Amino acid sequence: MRVLTGIQPTNILHLGNYFGALKPAVELQREDELFIGIVDLHAITVPQEPAQLKKNIAFATAAYLAAGIDPKKAILFQQSRVPAHAELGWLLQTIARIGELERMTQFKDKSKVKGQNVSVGLFTYPVLMAADILLYDTQAVPVGEDQKQHLELARDLAERFNRDFGQTFVVPKPIINIASGRILALDNPEIKMSKSAPSPKNYISLMDEADVIRKKIKSAVTDSETGISVDDGRPGLKNLLSIFSLVTNGSPEDIAASYAAKGMKELKEDLAEALITHLAPLQAAINDYLSQPDELEKIVAEGSARANEIASMKISEVKVKMGLSL
Ligand code: TYM
Repeated sequence: MRVLTGIQPTNILHLGNYFGALKPAVELQREDELFIGIVDLHAITVPQEPAQLKKNIAFATAAYLAAGIDPKKAILFQQSRVPAHAELGWLLQTIARIGELERMTQFKDKSKVKGQNVSVGLFTYPVLMAADILLYDTQAVPVGEDQKQHLELARDLAERFNRDFGQTFVVPKPIINIASGRILALDNPEIKMSKSAPSPKNYISLMDEADVIRKKIKSAVTDSETGISVDDGRPGLKNLLSIFSLVTNGSPEDIAASYAAKGMKELKEDLAEALITHLAPLQAAINDYLSQPDELEKIVAEGSARANEIASMKISEVKVKMGLSL
């Protein structure tokens, strides 16, 4: 099966990105033909400082490699090095409708504060994402729950294009992991863990140091009920148990049972230590890749060249279908 996923190279990557996207991708590379895009054109839909963006692109690449992506098996590419993404993004904008983009909850949330002063790129962002996916005849897209609506748009655009111009695109399906597809914010279990959160207490960054992790888990919002249980009415605790289960491979219910007598304080202390142990080798591997910029450049250049071969054939086909050829 052909699978494609993407990540924005923005300041930090957090546990939600790791469990929701990086780790599932590593699993998929064994049997599937996997494409991973470092989607820098998406990142610039909100203002980025150029020198920092450059660092973030290297960081996101290093994080995928450190998580276990093998560049011989998977195609790891930088979106801006494959011109067909921006090109198909434009072509699809001509069939996307304003109304359907206005319904995108992520745009609504992100533009809430700034109103009319957000970039046009932020509005058309999901169309570029559809282009990322459709260029490669992608059958499945592993993402976190927050991307589900964008995937629906990609499906709608594929179907509309096929209907109007003849069979061209594969209609992709999302793959959303129930256990890891929605990791919640530590400081507010009503919302998801997010890079753009105003407070760093919202998330655990993959590069957080041990003491920072201890402090953040200690202050994670739970509830005042007694006992430890997996319960939808206790979202903060449930989230901590999910994270615990993802780092130790035990079920949330078993973990809850084993802390029934010990209580919340000990659960949080042990979770923090488990996370520190889990992240330490990943952090070391990320730093190791970051210390080899030539190696990173080589991997991204090769991956982008392979992506370009496939994407440029598709864009030619699209242009012919639309009548953009002599
Ligand atoms: P981005 O960069 O915001 O996030 C990268 C991936 O992490 C997932 N994720 C989460 N999963 C679980 N819990 C969370 N709290 C959490 N927060 C983020 C996201 O769902 C995503 O899978 N639009 C995409 C990037 C993109 C893309 C694509 C993805 C562009 N083109 C094509 C797939 C296919 C985004 O902003 O992801």
